[in-house]
Amino acid sequence: MIQIAIDGPAGAGKSTIARKVAAQLGFLYVDTGALYRAVALHVLRAGAAAADTAAVTALLPSAHISLRYENGLQEVYLQGENVSEEIRTPQVSRAVSAVSAIPEVREFLFGLQQQLARENNVIMDGRDIGTVVLPQAQVKIFLTASPEDRAQRRFQEMQGKGQAVSYETVLADIRKRDEQDTHRAVAPLKQAADAVRVDTTGNTLEESVTRLSRFIRKKL
Ligand code: C5P
Repeated sequence: MIQIAIDGPAGAGKSTIARKVAAQLGFLYVDTGALYRAVALHVLRAGAAAADTAAVTALLPSAHISLRYENGLQEVYLQGENVSEEIRTPQVSRAVSAVSAIPEVREFLFGLQQQLARENNVIMDGRDIGTVVLPQAQVKIFLTASPEDRAQRRFQEMQGKGQAVSYETVLADIRKRDEQDTHRAVAPLKQAADAVRVDTTGNTLEESVTRLSRFIRKKL
């Protein structure tokens, strides 16, 4: 099976780009952030604090999370309910970094991610795919862009969905998430030694998709 790992900070365009390239190649696109978000939603619904390691760990056995693919699109299920929309709310975005810093949570999701990559050709995006989940991946990309560029994209995306947010809030949330994801003790966001760094600052989405898709095809 072929494994392509795409890691990078929030809002670098990983999911949009990876989804398009996966469709071109006929690979399964796995957005691992959605799994962490589903755990965070489960924790919030239970009324627990995201940073409460004991409470979050105790909730894991009751979190029934699965991915299903409908027309090539990944849908995330929690307790049999499609939560693909709900995991994108600002509340979940604020809770997810604290939840994902808990080693038990990472362990809980590790097997599922590995199984998907064993059974399918995958493009998997996340924070620790090239370093921890799929260290043997044939292609590793570290996709990044300036915080301002990333915040601008997220802001436009959220405005498009009718969510009332300010650019400043989105930028502050992105900076905070970067800080938490980069400095956590377990599986922090960092470029794998053998990953290629791609900076999409100033590029349009189409330019980034073309660039990455060319690069990946050359490597395969
Ligand atoms: O990719 P996305 O922004 O949806 O990820 C949400 C959060 O999940 C990240 O900020 C990070 O804390 C966590 N995450 C992770 N490891 C991954 C994917 C996501 O810790 N492989």
